[in-house]
Amino acid sequence: MTQHFTAPDRLTGNTGTQWWRDAVIYQVYPRSFADGNGDGMGDLEGVRGRLPYLRDLGVDAVWLSPFYASPQADAGYDVADYRAIDPMFGTLLDADALIRDAHELGLRIIVDLVPNHSSDQHEWFKQALREGPGSPLRARYHFRPGKGADGELPPNDWESIFGGPAWTQAPDGEWYLHLFAPEQPDFNWDHPAVADEFRSILRFWLDMGVDGFRIDVAHGLVKAPGLPDIGGHDQLKLLGNDVMPFFDQEGVHAIYRSWRTILDEYDGERIAVAEAWTPTVERTAAYVRPDELHQAFNFQYLGAPWEAAALREVIDASLAAMRPVGAPATWVLSNHDVTRHATRFANPQGLGTQLRTPGDRELGLRRARAATLLMLALPGSAYVYQGEELGLPDVTDLPDEVRQDPSFFRAAGQDGFRDGCRVPIPWTVEGSSYGFGSGGSWLPQPDTWGGLSVEAQTGDADSTLELYRRAIAARRDHPGLGAGDDVQWLDAPEGVLAFAREGFVCTVNLTGSPVRLATPGRVVLASAQLTLGEGQFDLPADTTVWWTV
Ligand code: NOJ
Repeated sequence: MTQHFTAPDRLTGNTGTQWWRDAVIYQVYPRSFADGNGDGMGDLEGVRGRLPYLRDLGVDAVWLSPFYASPQADAGYDVADYRAIDPMFGTLLDADALIRDAHELGLRIIVDLVPNHSSDQHEWFKQALREGPGSPLRARYHFRPGKGADGELPPNDWESIFGGPAWTQAPDGEWYLHLFAPEQPDFNWDHPAVADEFRSILRFWLDMGVDGFRIDVAHGLVKAPGLPDIGGHDQLKLLGNDVMPFFDQEGVHAIYRSWRTILDEYDGERIAVAEAWTPTVERTAAYVRPDELHQAFNFQYLGAPWEAAALREVIDASLAAMRPVGAPATWVLSNHDVTRHATRFANPQGLGTQLRTPGDRELGLRRARAATLLMLALPGSAYVYQGEELGLPDVTDLPDEVRQDPSFFRAAGQDGFRDGCRVPIPWTVEGSSYGFGSGGSWLPQPDTWGGLSVEAQTGDADSTLELYRRAIAARRDHPGLGAGDDVQWLDAPEGVLAFAREGFVCTVNLTGSPVRLATPGRVVLASAQLTLGEGQFDLPADTTVWWTV
């Protein structure tokens, strides 16, 4: 099997240099990236074939959303076998070849680990159902008798994130807990077998050579003792804003401390990044204390509007929260769960992660490009979601009959419009599914997407793809850019963000109109056309400029 990654760090030329602290990490959503076998569904062979593209884009690592054996009730976040690849994505040999090739190209591989719940087709859950109430094998999940005279009511008032009750009744009358879809039963992390199993799964993938893990629902594994009711609140509103009995419980940290010792046993600096939706950046920081995980996604940043004061506040708060624990801040604008930022920022308020309106596309793209240069100028590690480098908008008009997001089918849940950011990406101007594969695409692509393809944008200096390539390359040429844990804010008119980093200045105009500023240095990169005057210049609306000073 694959050797672990020992090539020199591409930023510093050294090995063992905490490569992850300022890494640009690219998220591949395997079913929508590239289809190697022409069945309309992306796969590992497809990803492997496109690794040179990712190397040329300049990213440091690739995070792959789940590719494990799964009935795909939640696009692979319902895992039936954590040590097998789903046939629709390939085989373990394909995974091995992918890891090997990536390492040869200097790319690290991060895989998704889904420890909060399994699929209802996981062998343990099938056993739990077969064995019946009282069986020790059932205790690896949360089974409870129902309330009411005949146990006909769920054991408590918890709601699923996807809508509806968080409990489903098994044929024998007991209920089981699922914070997501009924096909995703929650593990009982108080059971030692669960903890042992996941330590073993970690080792399995580390032995395969992966460089790290993205931990799904990292804040959800431990539930409050006794599974207490929440009371008459709108639970969806509380999510991420308050501590819930099923999220962000103290007990999760012991799990991550035990995982950290495993990661540290392996050489090559293997890392873990937490998907932890917590009420504050300070609570998120607890997941990345020195003996826990390495990074946590910054969802407060992802949720910020395109507004100067709000962005400055979240940047400051994020850096301040991470500083005491010594972890790098992270920055993210899009992922497979939220409306792409080119569409969020196309809508007047630039808010909302489940938008259905296309808004003003040109404005959205202009702001998205500016937002990317802002993100890549901040200290820490940045996450890029496949297709954002093409400036892809969300597909807001997918017909209901093609939708697959499980939350779309659950009453009273979130809108379920995550399919809009999951449409397969275009590689070529023409051809079946614009080069995604030879057999169409599992979600229909808009017929304008040939013009947004990699082929269409490559070599066009004004394209979003070339902007990303230049920005990531410039970040590498100025190692000070991703380094450190602070930015120095400069005086700037209201609605303009200006900050200095080592030998470098970043200016962002969020006022909506051009603003005249003194020229701070020499232009490195601008997200839009720029005209420089003598000692001063007009910073166009919704534009970011990088300068060396
Ligand atoms: C977070 C994942 O990003 C999302 O896609 C999934 O539905 C839930 N966790 C449940 O696993």
